[in-house]
Amino acid sequence: MRVHNFCAGPCTLPLSVLEEVRDELVDFRGSGMSVIEMSHRSAEYEDVHDEAIELFRSCYEVPDDRSILFLQGGATLEFAIVPMNLLTEGAQAGYVRSGSWARGALKDAAAVGDAYAAWDGEPNGFTRMPGGGELDVRAGSRYLHVTSNETIEGIRMSSFPSLDVPLVADMSSDYLSRPIPWDRFELVYGGAQKNLGPSGLAIVVVRTDTLERTNRDLPSYLRLDAHAEKNSLLNTPPMFSIYVMGKVLRWIRDQGGVDAMKDRAARRSGSLYAAVEASEGFYRSPVEPADRSHMNVVFRTPSDESDASFVKGAADEGLVNLKGHRSVGGIRASIYNAMPDDGVEALLDYMRAFREANA
Ligand SMILES: Cc1ncc(COP(=O)(O)O)c(C=O)c1O
Repeated sequence: MRVHNFCAGPCTLPLSVLEEVRDELVDFRGSGMSVIEMSHRSAEYEDVHDEAIELFRSCYEVPDDRSILFLQGGATLEFAIVPMNLLTEGAQAGYVRSGSWARGALKDAAAVGDAYAAWDGEPNGFTRMPGGGELDVRAGSRYLHVTSNETIEGIRMSSFPSLDVPLVADMSSDYLSRPIPWDRFELVYGGAQKNLGPSGLAIVVVRTDTLERTNRDLPSYLRLDAHAEKNSLLNTPPMFSIYVMGKVLRWIRDQGGVDAMKDRAARRSGSLYAAVEASEGFYRSPVEPADRSHMNVVFRTPSDESDASFVKGAADEGLVNLKGHRSVGGIRASIYNAMPDDGVEALLDYMRAFREANA
């Protein structure tokens, strides 16, 4: 029996994709072997690889002047690779320190280059995103780094700053869940294991002309231009993750693409926040209403003890992984693209019943 899995990542994938993977696993397209047993230089795998790149481009409406790279090391390695490549001698970059993940990105950038906080949400407990006027971006900054969705605190950047400085974004937890204004972004990156597929894969989208100016004084795996030159086949890529992501992208396309993902995320998160608001204070969201995530719905019951009993009771009903991140506690329902509507309905029913029994 399948459960409703609200994990923040890795997380629920479309059942149809899992079934296709199961059916193809032992003998991929008549090759007599599975996709994870074949050479990454084979024609069969190259088709899978190129199709995944094309599907990513078309689903996310990535402009032609961008390169799409498939890398390993997750979003975490991008925390380092991005400044290593973009912060050439004398350059500095601003970081919007909006939550735990942005804090990590800034820490790693500062370890390899000159990076500063252009805004810091920590004094207010990471409960909101900044307005454009609050950003302190130093003149001449090479880029401003934003985190489009803070997975742990459940905060979302609902609109992106419009500045003279290009944006770089960690989009790990809302990748392909809404269209983005590509003209403002020089580079975006994210791990696949939330909206797109299995872990082990990070996808970087970068202006192709930027790659002519990146740092060359780096080991080969850390050079974005080297990956682009080899079509992300510089070394053995995470083939299984790329193969499954291709299927998830096809599923996204068949559901109506990123616009459809955006609408359902707004509708589903909206119904959960409405249940919080209608609970007469039984449930509380720590996040400013305008900045509440459409992917990670964070809320609390009256006490830590009742949070724990909410999570346990939910698991008994097949609603699993609702515990908030260990650093913040509370409850977190991650409702990424592939979460079926049934899962959200079941959670709403459970919230209603739990409140009635405990208010
Ligand atoms: C917003 C964000 N950035 C970065 C990461 C780190 O990603 P990875 O585990 O792929 O390195 C995560 C993981 O949950 C995340 O949610």
